[in-house]
Amino acid sequence: MLKEGALKGKTIVVTGGGTGLGRSMTKYFLELGANAVICSRKQEVLEKAAEELMQETGGQVLAVACDVRKYNEIEAMLQATLDKFGRVDVLVNNAAGNFVSPTERLSHKAFDVITDIVLKGSYNCTLALGKHWIEQKQEGTILNIVTTYAWTGSGYVVPSACAKAGVLAMTRSLASEWAKYGIRSNAIAPGPFPTEGAWTRLFPKQLADKLDPVKRIPVGRFGEHQELANLAAYLVSDYAAFVNGEVVTIDGGEWLYGAGEFNAFDQIPQEMWDAMEKQMRGKG
Ligand code: HXC
Ligand code: NAP
Repeated sequence: MLKEGALKGKTIVVTGGGTGLGRSMTKYFLELGANAVICSRKQEVLEKAAEELMQETGGQVLAVACDVRKYNEIEAMLQATLDKFGRVDVLVNNAAGNFVSPTERLSHKAFDVITDIVLKGSYNCTLALGKHWIEQKQEGTILNIVTTYAWTGSGYVVPSACAKAGVLAMTRSLASEWAKYGIRSNAIAPGPFPTEGAWTRLFPKQLADKLDPVKRIPVGRFGEHQELANLAAYLVSDYAAFVNGEVVTIDGGEWLYGAGEFNAFDQIPQEMWDAMEKQMRGKG
């Protein structure tokens, strides 16, 4: 979508960049000329992804094992990034953990594990890179991947909803506070985009047979990874220099469909509308 070389000279850290949407965003950043640093807990997954991404795009990828819950590991990842590329320009807080469960079935550790990865992981990375940019008097860009239930809330994913809401609050708060340092903060709220990580934990087979998530999406399909990558590339690029504190929804209209009082009426067949109209008009 963007011009060739639109991200040339930028070094972009993508947490959770070895799989799913993180990998797809990283691939497009590389195609647009950026250097990439991908980090997550599993070194072997990262190394395989880095190798493939470099072959596919001809770009430079550094794979660093790093648990975003641990601040010292993020500092080590930042140092490795500076050693390899000499600078860092963009942070994409994409790493996450999630599963569906009735809240009363959760242990306190299950609640912790999700909020620690999503909220603590995002603020840890933001703090480490933000301090670095401020010290270096260098501009920086933060892009947080949230969800549409960050503002609506959602049953059955309560730890994730609490954590993503916190990340959204951080996005908007720092957009005001850190703009004076040349640091922009934005977020993307994706609807359903098929990935192994999300599908195995959120739409297990027993559920997929009962509830078809596509039925809730007005455009009638899931998102395509390139569509999300296009938006992410724009938001981290200099073309978006005046976009700050925004959350951009990319969900085919899903959350508004769920919110609109009468939207489910699109399941009403034509003959039923005929009968209902006749009856309503008859009432004068
Ligand atoms: C209830 C569960 C559970 C489940 C784990 N736990 N799975 N409780 N239901 N399905 C509990 C465990 O019993 C334990 O508590 C605690 O959670 C920690 O579990 P561990 O397995 O030890 O944690 P860990 O190995 O760190 O794994 C973290 C994880 C795992 C989050 C549980 O799923 C993971 O690694 N996820 C990373 C990738 C991911 O989740 N991707 C999806 C993102 S999708 P006790 O008390 O027993 O010790 C997304 C999209 C949203 O966010 C929107 C879609 C439209
Ligand atoms: P995914 O492939 O499972 O991505 C999650 C990534 O986070 C994995 O690479 C995982 O790698 C990493 N991670 C987990 N815990 C970590 C930790 N403690 N430290 C560092 N990295 C960690 O799932 P996805 O669907 O692509 O999700 C990507 C992002 O999009 C998430 O923020 C998710 O909430 C958001 N999202 C997805 C959808 C969707 O439909 N797919 C919808 C809305 C929002 P390791 O296991 O190796 O650590």
